[in-house]
Amino acid sequence: MKKILVTGGCGYIGVHTIADLLVNGFDVISVDNNSRSNSDILLNAEKITGKKTSNYVVDLCDLESTRNIFIKNEGIDGIIHFAAYKAVGESVEKPLLYFANNLGSLINILKCAEEFNVPHFVFSSSCTVYGNPDSIPVTEETPQKPAESPYGATKQMGEVIVNETVKSNSIQAILLRYFNPVGAHPSILLGEIPLGRPANLVPAITQTAIGKLPAMIVHGHDYNTKDGSCVRDYIHVSDIAHAHTLALNYLIDQKNKTQTEIFNLGTGDGYTVLEVIAAFEKVSGIKLNYSLGPRRAGDVVAIYANNNKATTELGWIPKYTLEDMMATAWQWELKLKNEQQVNG
Ligand code: WQD
Repeated sequence: MKKILVTGGCGYIGVHTIADLLVNGFDVISVDNNSRSNSDILLNAEKITGKKTSNYVVDLCDLESTRNIFIKNEGIDGIIHFAAYKAVGESVEKPLLYFANNLGSLINILKCAEEFNVPHFVFSSSCTVYGNPDSIPVTEETPQKPAESPYGATKQMGEVIVNETVKSNSIQAILLRYFNPVGAHPSILLGEIPLGRPANLVPAITQTAIGKLPAMIVHGHDYNTKDGSCVRDYIHVSDIAHAHTLALNYLIDQKNKTQTEIFNLGTGDGYTVLEVIAAFEKVSGIKLNYSLGPRRAGDVVAIYANNNKATTELGWIPKYTLEDMMATAWQWELKLKNEQQVNG
């Protein structure tokens, strides 16, 4: 059974990926300092899969603590590196926090991959590396424009660090560029748990609908798009998770054509903010309380993926529709409220 170390394993995409890996026969170790997550979520992954996952509460910026994980766990076949801060707005306010954390942790985990001869490495990247693209949909070869935030810059730099590092050793790597991960596991046992007021669209929608937020603002309605609001490629988190399992199998089966390969993980369909709201209203039956407001600094006007490479080479076929994404996100929000009422 192949053993995979997942950093950031208690995070939104991390825990969904752990569930998919376990269901697909991998053995998994999680490393997460729980600074922005809670390892209890791994108990829900166990309810789904019937398999336990232990989490090492370690800050990957501490090299010795990180090395100790590899000393205690020999024969790790692959690493999936999620651990990073991801709040675009916070990164603008605290760029050095983001550079130190996101790049420091990446450098240390790569040092350990080298020292302990881990052959396969998957890096959690993002469509944000494209910046404001000149043409859409974007392919993996679309030239990168300047990142719109320090968060985006850490993803651009992270890709360079992985790409250049593996050239000096035998590690085979894959960079997965997520578009906009949304929704919750169909069991409704896993989902997004935003810290504080959500910056991202879908949790802002569901928290407004459930009454946690008084209202929602659509950031910008005068863009050159079909209805004036921004276009994004929303992708269900469980589809994103399964792509990681496929990427590991691709590496293990030595299908990499180059030492580092890149894959776009999007549906290939772009939806405007107003279309997403309409889809939510349709599946929830709730009229959302929103207003049309000013543009948000740093927003890309429109981006969505050409996902042909992932579908043809990884055999990755996204299966959730926009309405599925909205329905699971809403069911998850309802579950969180119910648990809050029960637990007080
Ligand atoms: C989507 C659209 C907003 C909230 C970023 C990162 C990406 C990934 C996801 C981490 C935009 C609009 C939002 C609201 C709104 N990061 N919006 N009202 O900015 O595309 O992507 O987060 O995983 O790497 O770049 O996602 O959900 O914040 O915004 O109108 O209350 O929704 O303006 O047009 P974004 P988002």
